[in-house]
Amino acid sequence: MINRLSIKNNIPFRAIHLNQYERIGNETVLNHKTSFFRYSDKENTDAFVVSLLRRKNNNKPLTIVSAGCSFGEEVYSYALACEKYGIKANISGFDISSTVINEAKQGKYYLNEKELDYLVKYQKGKKRTPFQKAMSDTFARNFEQKGRHKNCYQLKNDKLTNCEFRLDDVKKIQTLYGKNSQDLILCRYVLYHIPNIEELYNVFGQFEKILKPGGLLCLNDIEAKYYKEALLTLGFIQPYKNYPWIFEKPKTRKDKLNDFINSIENFINKGVNKK
Ligand SMILES: C[S@@+](CC[C@H](N)C(=O)[O-])C[C@H]1O[C@@H](n2cnc3c(N)ncnc32)[C@H](O)[C@@H]1O
Repeated sequence: MINRLSIKNNIPFRAIHLNQYERIGNETVLNHKTSFFRYSDKENTDAFVVSLLRRKNNNKPLTIVSAGCSFGEEVYSYALACEKYGIKANISGFDISSTVINEAKQGKYYLNEKELDYLVKYQKGKKRTPFQKAMSDTFARNFEQKGRHKNCYQLKNDKLTNCEFRLDDVKKIQTLYGKNSQDLILCRYVLYHIPNIEELYNVFGQFEKILKPGGLLCLNDIEAKYYKEALLTLGFIQPYKNYPWIFEKPKTRKDKLNDFINSIENFINKGVNKK
């Protein structure tokens, strides 16, 4: 297992490119920086996205993909949060690096200070947002310490089997998932590995195709500013003022009408079931 604490995380933004990776043919040019609930302190994005997913949740499991999932923390974070809030979901992640995918499948981590904080300091009554509190409980329930290193934890078995990981390239995402199949695509701090604008626009087009109408694409704050225009040109909207890095594929009038009919049917069925 790679000790993430020893990985250099301070590679400058936009400094590494996939063409270098292809040329050099090794991992050194890829930035694998990630962590559990990486954005929850700064942006509160994950809490907000989970609240949106709760509204979308119906009887069918939601479909979530982490494109460029690195060691898997993003995937497991969403799996833990969805379970915590009773959201049924199929969550998958892929990455171009076989090293991180192999590690992700094991779900074994040297937790960093912030992550340990979820587990340990929670008991000391530290002030937290409701989301952080909820995640502390979840961490405590779903991780077990492994081996002699005090920072080494592994996710419990059911979490490992519930999440899917594969080796793949975001530039081919359309071949991996069906048309209109995903409720949420997470793609944060990945696209700067693709310097070629045409390739990048092509990836955005593929995102648009595999998202369901009403589906969400979540970038990070900096990327959202760079790519906003391209995404709006493709028909995406930015409906959440405080979260401009969340883009939505709009519903068509037909989709909205279907939603309306479904909600009336649900309402009537509930009434019938009560009797
Ligand atoms: C900085 S990490 C971000 C991890 C995670 N998305 C997060 O925000 O915490 C970027 C990851 O993108 C992966 N990556 C780079 N180019 C990719 C590509 N074309 N297809 C899939 N993954 C890619 C890298 O291997 C790396 O693990």
